[in-house]
Amino acid sequence: MAALLVWVSWLVLSLLSVYLLAHSRRHLPPGPRPLPLIGSLHLLGDQPHRSLATLAKTYGPLMSLRLGAVTTVVVSSPAVAREFMQRHDAVFATRSTPDALRDHARNSVTWLPLGPTWRDLRKVMTTELFAPHRLDALRQLRQEKVAELVEHVARLAREGEAVDVRRVASTTSLNLLSRTIFSRDLTSLDDRGTSKEFEQLMADILEAIGRPNLSDFYPALAAVDLQGWRRWQSRLFARLHPLIDAEVDQRRKQRAGRQNGLKKDEADFLEVLLDLAARDDEKARGLDRDMLRAIFTDLFAAGSDTSSSTIEWAMAELLRSPLAMAKVCDELRRVIGSGRTIEESEISRLPYLQAVVKETLRLHPPGPLLLPRQATSTIQIMGYTIPKGAQVFINVWAMGQDKDTWPEPEKFMPERFIEKPIDFKGGDFELIPFGAGRRICPGLPLAFRMVHVVLASLLIHFKWTLPVEVERNGIDMKEKFGATVAKAIPLCAMATTT
Ligand code: HEM
Repeated sequence: MAALLVWVSWLVLSLLSVYLLAHSRRHLPPGPRPLPLIGSLHLLGDQPHRSLATLAKTYGPLMSLRLGAVTTVVVSSPAVAREFMQRHDAVFATRSTPDALRDHARNSVTWLPLGPTWRDLRKVMTTELFAPHRLDALRQLRQEKVAELVEHVARLAREGEAVDVRRVASTTSLNLLSRTIFSRDLTSLDDRGTSKEFEQLMADILEAIGRPNLSDFYPALAAVDLQGWRRWQSRLFARLHPLIDAEVDQRRKQRAGRQNGLKKDEADFLEVLLDLAARDDEKARGLDRDMLRAIFTDLFAAGSDTSSSTIEWAMAELLRSPLAMAKVCDELRRVIGSGRTIEESEISRLPYLQAVVKETLRLHPPGPLLLPRQATSTIQIMGYTIPKGAQVFINVWAMGQDKDTWPEPEKFMPERFIEKPIDFKGGDFELIPFGAGRRICPGLPLAFRMVHVVLASLLIHFKWTLPVEVERNGIDMKEKFGATVAKAIPLCAMATTT
């Protein structure tokens, strides 16, 4: 009798849970029917942004799928993105954090949930670090790095060697960041002197972030860290932190030995943060060693590959499009002059160059699904239920391919932005490669300067051609999905001094 009772209760509970599951799914946005255990993981493939864009053609711009055990909502149109990132921004301004970054996330502006610590850090970033006056103050330091890039490419041109555009763009981006942050170089174009340790560690950390992790699809198993990614990531951070600490300690010593503080326009990011940390008001709140480590890690991780891959994709698109290349070079010759060094303040006079960068970011957003968001409460959107805890991807790549918004979306046509005044600063939801709402990229003002100046410098000083074989077969534009989506095959091109 007892056994029968247990069996009946089990049956009733099972039927009830099946009913509840089906019932809860009924209000979710449409999506593919999940398989037992894996849900729709098998549909993601190695280019999730493309697979999800294809699925959205069937299920619509607001769709849901189960990835392992995680309910995931995918947004694929500007109108729906506006609902999530403008109308209901507060609900979706927390991120779903990769398990491998759990320790780092405690102090990280990128991964902290919406709350006082995140708000304080964001405020420091927008008002103190990325404010125009601060970036202006540090532009001379960056200018020197751009001049070095030009010299380096000129030497390769003289020696008839191909330029690995990825390598020069990423070393230059890292040094532009480190000049802005620490006033010094962390790597070099010529492999001379500086250690490559920092650069390599950043590359390893980004690679580890980009790897799929079972713990993220089955949070109940996360404690076990089945693939060991969290342990691996912790080891990488344990090697990176002493390098950051050394910068901070050395600067603290210099500050102790200084009679007067630095002039306002000499202060780099480290100096500004140490000034704030030394105050005894609320501005110093939390700026301890752990917080500084997290801030610097975030700035380098978020700023280096995103900027350099944009530069590489832009060069690849221009080399495939002689008309656009001719137009942008013509504009640079007219406005800046041949062989002259471009200043950051001159970008505003270069509408076609700006259009080239926008068109590159439309076709190749470095984060095609942005950084994942999470619903902090259950909410109804467009008649569907988005449950608390659901992970949210905003597929900006799919939005860049929409035929109704962009005629001939697969074509590289910067002209579309000359005719249509659309910007990527978070107000025009058709083009949001930097995100939108409260969590929009705070580094945008610096990225804007770095990407335009490096690209313009490569184009003003050199004429570019492709190696014969690549010219014959065409540039391979395949992508490699990871923390950022980079060109799978690095772009190599021949430069001749103009
Ligand atoms: C072309 C270059 C860049 C692109 C395309 C880019 C894109 C993005 C995107 C899509 C996000 C997430 C936005 C969202 O969830 O709505 C983001 C966040 C972030 N970016 Fe950038 N970024 C770039 C350069 C930079 C630079 C140069 C820095 C700093 C040096 C930076 C620092 C950050 C930080 C700290 C966050 C996290 C903000 C938060 O969660 O509150 N980024 N970026």
